[in-house]
Amino acid sequence: MWDKNAKRTIGDRQVRPESLMMSYGYRPEWSEGALKPPIFQTSTFVFESAEEGKNFFEVAYGLREQEPGETLGLIYSRLNNPGLEILEDRLTLWDDAEACAAFESGMAAISTTVLSFLRPGRVLAFSEPIYGGTEYLFHRVLPEFGIETVAFPAAGGRAALEEALDAEGRRDRLGMVYLETPANPTNALVDIAACAQVADDASTDDRRVLLTVDNTFLGPLWQHPLGHGADLVLYSLTKYAAGHSDVIAGACLGSRELVDRVKETRTFFGSIAGPWTSWLILRSLETLKLRMTCQMKNARHLAEFLAGHPAVERVHYLGHLEEGDPGHQTYRRQCLSPGGMISFEVSGGEEEAFRVLNALELIQLAVSLGGTESLAEHPATMTHADIPPEDQRRMGITPSMIRLSVGVEHPDDLIADLDQALRTA
Ligand SMILES: Cc1ncc(COP(=O)(O)O)c(C=O)c1O
Repeated sequence: MWDKNAKRTIGDRQVRPESLMMSYGYRPEWSEGALKPPIFQTSTFVFESAEEGKNFFEVAYGLREQEPGETLGLIYSRLNNPGLEILEDRLTLWDDAEACAAFESGMAAISTTVLSFLRPGRVLAFSEPIYGGTEYLFHRVLPEFGIETVAFPAAGGRAALEEALDAEGRRDRLGMVYLETPANPTNALVDIAACAQVADDASTDDRRVLLTVDNTFLGPLWQHPLGHGADLVLYSLTKYAAGHSDVIAGACLGSRELVDRVKETRTFFGSIAGPWTSWLILRSLETLKLRMTCQMKNARHLAEFLAGHPAVERVHYLGHLEEGDPGHQTYRRQCLSPGGMISFEVSGGEEEAFRVLNALELIQLAVSLGGTESLAEHPATMTHADIPPEDQRRMGITPSMIRLSVGVEHPDDLIADLDQALRTA
């Protein structure tokens, strides 16, 4: 049984997450003294007795209430696995969450979570723009299961959410408010606390409206949605958490009660993260703060360079928000740093943006983000291609927009590359 009460303090000092990423939730004596947790490449686990097996299944299938302090014993790697549990425990530290469920992709985390709580007839209200895959799930897939989905503009915040709910009396059927903030790819911010208030106000004794936040862009270092009233936080761990563009994974965090429900659905959807995936992310978490801090610093240099470049019309970067700008107050309340994502619009349109992308030498032309290498892509025709052009415009996604995920290279080299690409174009 894995130790859920691993130490988090030295005397009365609370040890910070980055200091615990190498050790928390694992003891070398469990694995022949191995400093690092091994990969438990096993599909199933041997019970010490038939009674133990019966006990484990009673808990796993919710056949009886768990005793205080009782955790789920190791059964089968579609339900749990030691490496996965260590990963989940470590991830809770950054968001100060009670519990975490890890998945084999960000989309698995999103789909499993929303389908854990929404039923036919319920309404899901979500901020736009949003990652293209999530948009597809919400617009095309959920309605086929009888779940109504309604979008509201991220930049419009609480007022826009209220308006979307008032239309056609959706408020009484509201099941979940779903935010992606900052929004992919425009960096538009949504006020989490204000939306939490709307969700609370719309909740009744027999229908609790949950607020779910995709924290992939700034988390888990620079934004902590649970602290602002969110019920659940979602991640594509593929991005900053894994950080090396070599693994796909996701996570959902929140209260034990809610995450247990997500884990139950995960068991039967089979969307759990495997032992290898879990191990790779555990390894990455050790350098998470180093990487994200370097990416944040590099992004600041790049954003400044882009803002001063004559071929660049507009830069969407959280670090440039000023008093009076939409999102400025939200940024100050909610975010701890501008992070490492920048979108910018070049003079011209798609043709000019493509010329810049094709001319890049060091920065790779690829979707995804949060990796050690800098990546550039064209949201309108790539990550958000499924959204009709007129809707893209409404959301602020223009043909001349390039999204940049800033890596850990030397900032001067990245600037030199952008400069030569902008000149070529
Ligand atoms: C903000 C955001 N959420 C979720 C996802 C989906 O994650 P995954 O690709 O790990 O399934 C992505 C992928 O790009 C994303 O950018």
